[in-house]
Amino acid sequence: MGDWKLDKLTVRDMPVAGRRVFVRVDFNVPQEAGRITDDTRIRAALPTIRYLADQGARVILASHLGRPKGQASEALSLRPIAGRLADLLGKPVAFCPESVGEVAREAAFALRDGDVLLLENVRFHAGEEKNDPALAAQFAQLAEVFVNDAFGAAHRAHASTEGIAHILPGVAGLLVERELAVMGGALAQPEAPFTAIIGGAKVSDKIKVIENLLTKVDHLLIGGGMANTFLAAQGYALGKSLVEPDQQDEARRLLELARTAGAMLLLPRDVVAATEFRADSPSRVADMDDVRDDEMVLDIGPATAAMYSDTVVLSRTVIWNGPMGVFEMPAFAHGTRAVADAMAEVRGVTIIGGGDSVAAVEQAGVADRMTHISTGGGASLEFLEGRPLPGIEALRRKTGV
Ligand code: 3PG
Repeated sequence: MGDWKLDKLTVRDMPVAGRRVFVRVDFNVPQEAGRITDDTRIRAALPTIRYLADQGARVILASHLGRPKGQASEALSLRPIAGRLADLLGKPVAFCPESVGEVAREAAFALRDGDVLLLENVRFHAGEEKNDPALAAQFAQLAEVFVNDAFGAAHRAHASTEGIAHILPGVAGLLVERELAVMGGALAQPEAPFTAIIGGAKVSDKIKVIENLLTKVDHLLIGGGMANTFLAAQGYALGKSLVEPDQQDEARRLLELARTAGAMLLLPRDVVAATEFRADSPSRVADMDDVRDDEMVLDIGPATAAMYSDTVVLSRTVIWNGPMGVFEMPAFAHGTRAVADAMAEVRGVTIIGGGDSVAAVEQAGVADRMTHISTGGGASLEFLEGRPLPGIEALRRKTGV
């Protein structure tokens, strides 16, 4: 990985002792029946929170949870998260049942150096998602400095991710810095061979990311439902499989782009096909030219899995976004599992670009062998597309980078 540098100031560049710091985090964590089922995003924010508290800052944390659309709702309250955060931090975390207004101001102004306060869900206010400047100003009244550590929400131009940075001096948190350094470094100066693995259901969701990566990678491996559209564009019959007929021209264009960019775009040569979209549906391995009319493709086949694994293992930089098949069903999880295992063998940089691939490496028990697992789903995808992230763009620039 090259020495790519973030051109934004970070929390380390800003004096924070004794100052109230509004820290936007992404505590949008999955919950079931009020229980947090995965606290990865809370853990990922700990370095910034600890750093600020140790420096004597007065830490005011703000986040969204779910999509409450401007309405307060008990089910989407951040209150349970304050408890989990306190356990992880090993120190008390005060909770404020509002994110703006008099109650929030009182809570923020009562903080002492090193204290941590968590505000209620910022999306309980309709102005958050509209990036309403009046709401941003209310957030800004709570603090003197803004830190954005919500990488997962950095693709959103909302009041607490972007608007506030036009009022308070804004700097990047340590999670945002790491996410951008690892992914930006890999894209800017990858050690070759550089391989990207792109999967998931639809080509239409991933056109931009494929387009951007094709100009940078040596190999691009395609799997998941989206491979079907490429294969259909090459004339293969795919039975009842998910195919996007209106994307076949795009698929042809991307194949041509790969050719001109000198990147090797690999498609499945065999598949696992089933007659029904069911975990217990009878299935078989079929060559690409042998999928029957009553079958649908639900995974890459073993020959493809071996070809993809060989390519991955010999790479020095690998980015993976999207599963190779319907990996939630064990019968159709082999391709995704093979790719996860191959990622674990790579002697180089391995990056999991968020979303389902994170679940796949966790399921395979190899998550701790990856260089980096992004906390962003949509955000990492937009970053890999080469699009500017509004929550990052609004932060203060470093001079001389
Ligand atoms: C995510 O879970 O990807 C982020 O927290 C962003 O959430 P959103 O898609 O509701 O903006």
